[in-house]
This record gives sequence, C-alpha cells and structure tokens, in this order.
Amino acid sequence: MVKDCKVVVRPARDLAGSVRLPGDKSISHRYAMLGAIAEGTTQLANFSAGADCASTLACLRSLGVEWQREGNAVRIEGCGGKLRAPAGALDCGNSGSTMRMLSGILAGQEFTAELSGDESLSRRPMARIITPLEMMGAKIAASDGARPPLRITGGHLKAIDYEMPVASAQVKTAVLFAGLFARGETSVEEPVRTRDHGELALRAFGADIKVEGNRALLGGGQNLHGIEAEIPGDLSSAAFFLCAAALFPGSQLIIRDLLMNPRRARLLEVLISMGLETSVTQIGEHHGEVLGSLQARGGSLKGMALSGADTAALIDEIPVLAAIAPYSEGGVEIHDARELRVKESDRIAAMAANLRAMGAQVEELEDGLKIPGRQKLHGAEIDSFGDHRIAMAFAVAALRAEGETCIGRADAAVISYPAFFETLEHLVQR
Ligand code: S3P
Repeated sequence: MVKDCKVVVRPARDLAGSVRLPGDKSISHRYAMLGAIAEGTTQLANFSAGADCASTLACLRSLGVEWQREGNAVRIEGCGGKLRAPAGALDCGNSGSTMRMLSGILAGQEFTAELSGDESLSRRPMARIITPLEMMGAKIAASDGARPPLRITGGHLKAIDYEMPVASAQVKTAVLFAGLFARGETSVEEPVRTRDHGELALRAFGADIKVEGNRALLGGGQNLHGIEAEIPGDLSSAAFFLCAAALFPGSQLIIRDLLMNPRRARLLEVLISMGLETSVTQIGEHHGEVLGSLQARGGSLKGMALSGADTAALIDEIPVLAAIAPYSEGGVEIHDARELRVKESDRIAAMAANLRAMGAQVEELEDGLKIPGRQKLHGAEIDSFGDHRIAMAFAVAALRAEGETCIGRADAAVISYPAFFETLEHLVQR
C-alpha cells in the first residue's frame, strides 16, 4: 500500500512463489561501460531496472555513446575506446559505482569532464580513486580534495602497481579500466577479496587479464569487442526475499536465473548457517558469471557473528541481515564494517535508529552493531534515510513485527529495484 512516498507494510504469515529478478546492478554497470568503449555492438538482456544503472547509461550518452533501450534490453554501439568530451557535467545521481568506475575510463580520455552527484553521493569519499588515477597520470580536482564533484583531465596514462588500502571492488575496477588506456601492465592488489565482476567482464569483452591470488594484472592498449549477454538476477536484491523467507518456517521460494558468483554468494552460506534450507538447480555459466535457480525453505533462524573479510563479501546485504537479526535465536554481531558509514547513508546509524524505532534493543558500535536475539518488534514510522537498501531491509523487518510499519521515503528503492514492493506483496502470504 503506497501513501505519498510512504509504503505501509503489514505482517506476513510466510512467503511463497517463484520469481526472476532484474539483472545484477554491479554487472550491468560494468557491461554498459565496457560496451561503450568496445568495438562493435553490445546487446544486453535483463539489464538492471534501477536508477543507478540508468545514470550510467545517461552519462555514456553525454559522452557520445549511442544506445537504445527497450524495457530491460539495452543495445550499445561501442565507440572503440574514444569517447567525446561532454557538453556539461555528467550527473551520476545517487550512484557511487557510476562515479568511481567511469572515472577510470575518463582518466584515459584526452579531455576534461566533470562528474557530479546528488546530495548523498556528494558526501561520499573519492580519495580512494583519486590517488591511484593521479598516480597513473590523470589530473583530478575535487571538492575539499576528496569529494564530488570531480573534474578529471585524462590521457597519457602510465601503468602502476597499486596496493589498495580499502577493500573496494569499485576502486579495483576503476584502476583496471584506466589500465586499458595506460602504457605498460597495471596491477591491482586488494587487501581482501571483493567481487570480481570487473575482471570477469574485462575477459568477456576480450581483454587479456591475469588474476594471481588477490592481484589482477592487465596490459594497456588492448582492444575490446562487443558482446551479447543476458545478465543474471541481482543477488543483492534477492537477499531481501531470501531473508524474508528465512523469517518464516513455512516459506517456499524459488528464484530463477540468479547470480551465484562465488564472491557474491557468501550471503547464501550465511543464511544456510542460520537455518535457511536451500537447493540449487540448473547451474550454468555465462561470460564467466555463475548462475542458477535457487529454491529456499524457511527453517529455524539462528544467530551469527560477522567480521573481517566477511563484511566485505556481504557489504550490501548487511542491512537486511541486521533487519532480521532481532528475530533470530542467538542474535547477530557485526564488526569491521566501518565502510557502511560511507554508503548511500550512514547505514550503521540508519539501522540502529530504525531497529530502535521498532522497539528493538541494539548496540551501535563504531564499526558495526550488536543485536540481541529473541526480540519482539512492533510496527513503527521509520525512514529510509533516502537509502534504497535501508528502505527494503525494513520492509523485511516489518513482516514479522506486530502491527503496520510505515516506511518513509520508500521510493528510494528505485535506485536498485523499482518493482521491489510489488514483488514483495506478490510473494507474501497472509
Ligand atoms: C560495488 C561494490 C561495493 C558495493 C556496491 C557495488 C561494485 O562498493 O557496496 O553496491 O559494483 O563494485 P565498494 O566498492 O565501495 O565496496
């Protein structure tokens, strides 16, 4: 039920049904950007329906790339590496992925371009891409030296060996994209393994890229070729339905053609350890990305503790894991997740505030949360803080609360999953 920008979520008995989700957001951004600089045409099916990937496409159009979109099918005419100087600032909207990864490509272009974003994106840290791209030879001006808008003057890059201080797949991808335009071989080493869609996408478009442990190596001056691809369903969107299913022992859910890339699938292992029963059929691989149909049945809901490399592997799923935590038997502890404070919102603060509004006891840590189990929550007026994953996570928490929950600024869900609330209502049994 939608009231203004508020969505009211009522308690559920369980979840049942079968769905196929819009394409993965991380893969959609990368295929669109590489399609734009490849030679020839790229034809993408099941492209992400979210506003973030639409921001990437709009920026590419301002850079002279022609594309057509019909529903979730996108056809991109590659420009063979040379983009056109944009007439005005490139608006990345709410999308950190657009700004950071496109910066890698702009670092290789011989013109100046400005990248701007909305209020949330304008607060997010950019030093993490400015440092390596400047080492490669790009000139980047930023507000206070580290925040958007960014003004990038690219061209004449040289390869670097870069050890990333923060675990970030966006930064890794930005450096590798810049490496395509650099003289010599660029290497990027990450402190813990993050999602590898950048490496897989580069290989799919024909680049010769080596991966040795936590290091990826790519020679400059390679030509890319357009691809035809069907993008697997977004695992981070599936997380909301899987966590909702995990709340109710009677749930029976099937998610078809779902991304199951091992670097993204930690969520499935965690939910299985918490009591979700799963089976996978029709496992396949497409352009190096693993996908399959997942069947999930709710069971008991045990607690768990997350820290270290797990938090990087689960970074986008922690909000919804925190939202189901109070209903678990043993509670949930999250440490080493400081990065959540610099996402679309300060997600640690947002989760703590909303859990408390619903009557939960929760301890906010500098780098995480401690949420005791066996709690009873009640419906409340909560806020998305303008953050898509917070809006969707608390729709899930609301399913087992007593009474109705009203989610303010719920329209934030359009960023990654515009049809989320309709699909949730379709799956929920009352
Ligand atoms: C993403 C990487 C993660 C994630 C974001 C998408 C990507 O961000 O939170 O939603 O597609 O590479 P960081 O690179 O900042 O960790």
